[in-house]
Amino acid sequence: MALIENVPRDSFSSRIGVIAAAAGSAIGLGNIWRFPYVAGENGGGAFLLIYFGFIVLIGVPVMLSEFVIGRSTQSNPVGAFKRLAPKSFWPLTGFLGISAAFFILSFYTTVSGWTLEYLFLAFKDGFAGKDVTTLSAEFDAFRTNGLRPLIWQNIFMVFTAFIVFKGIKNGIEKYTKILMPLLLVIIIILGIRSVTLPGASEGLLFLFNPDFSKITGKVILEALGQSFFSLSIGMGTLITYGSYIGKKENLGKTALSVSAADTLIAILAGVAIFPAVFAFGIAPEAGAGLVFITLPMIFDQMAGGYFFALIFFLLLSIAALTSTISVLEVVVAYLSEELKLGRKKATLLAASTIALLGVACTMSQGPWSILSIGKYNLFDLLELISANVMLPLGGLLIVLFVGWFMAKDKIFAELANNGKLSAGFRYVYLFIIRFLAPVAIAFVFLHGLGIFGFFGSGDL
Ligand code: PHE
Repeated sequence: MALIENVPRDSFSSRIGVIAAAAGSAIGLGNIWRFPYVAGENGGGAFLLIYFGFIVLIGVPVMLSEFVIGRSTQSNPVGAFKRLAPKSFWPLTGFLGISAAFFILSFYTTVSGWTLEYLFLAFKDGFAGKDVTTLSAEFDAFRTNGLRPLIWQNIFMVFTAFIVFKGIKNGIEKYTKILMPLLLVIIIILGIRSVTLPGASEGLLFLFNPDFSKITGKVILEALGQSFFSLSIGMGTLITYGSYIGKKENLGKTALSVSAADTLIAILAGVAIFPAVFAFGIAPEAGAGLVFITLPMIFDQMAGGYFFALIFFLLLSIAALTSTISVLEVVVAYLSEELKLGRKKATLLAASTIALLGVACTMSQGPWSILSIGKYNLFDLLELISANVMLPLGGLLIVLFVGWFMAKDKIFAELANNGKLSAGFRYVYLFIIRFLAPVAIAFVFLHGLGIFGFFGSGDL
């Protein structure tokens, strides 16, 4: 026993490292690709308001709960529940997260592959002088092409597996510390260009002026799903990262800083995208291609656009990478700790099986469009099910678990680092995770799925 205790478990080395790694997980395509397109499809301002409410009232507490579970057990999501509630059904929550990791990574690497293609196009100066029609036709041709997106996707998966294989401290922490702030700077520059385009103000109104008549069960569920997806919560990513957080870190502060950084980047991405969307006459509900059509248009209108496009797509790829490694890490931590596979074997096994589902996902965009149900292809289905069903369900189970099944003293000891911090927020937190968050998640969830019909249709 003593021997095991003497071998220190891999952990983050510094305060800023923890925040950088968790923020690296949270900040990614969810903010820059998914947030604008989902907000665009769901009415803009009203969506943003509800999204923001969910981040503050539900997202931050769920994130904190994951940190509490992770750090107190020093374990992967399945092992953590096994430790805290042996011989119960709770470890299934961990398995739900692992399944979500499979689903998310398979479509996320498709989009990460698109980002690499756009990095390549930026390098070739491939956007110069093109109009919206050409850019959207080219995006569609590429997306449905099969082989090309597949190659990029797998290159991306190899990068992800390589970093996860190298381990948490050397792999994840090092890159994020410098690169995330740089991404912030570039998005601000893009935002400035976007809001100074002629006709831009309409886009700002679309984003910031809520039209309450647009709120439906679907909009509310999409906002909940997006808030979970963007914060990387509800599937154990932050249980896993929480397990690498040192005992001296302030969990409450970490959850707040990560959520604030994530939300800031999403809103800035909205400020960069929507004014340009209106200025160039693109439909805000254009869907998953929105960013890949709008941004090249902005670069084309910028002094130094070639240079900015290159840096932007490079940073976006890296932001995606710091997210994919956090998802893969969940599966690898499970396989290596619970099934006792070595880290190398675990990484290979996880990455290769996920890559298979990933292939089907990418191909469902075009050559294998037969893989669809109704208007949704496999890619869309995995995206909808993971963000809007699995993550909220996982989040619900996580808050119920911490709120009702973990000993109060243990939670408070984690929040206050055994009395070293005051953690004055602990009763508010406890109230939220016991009552407010579970009721709200269950309500939105059931309602959005159409089981209730209170505010209009709940169809997905
Ligand atoms: N939060 C990440 C993003 O916004 C995606 C993600 C979801 C990562 C769930 C981990 C878990 O890009």
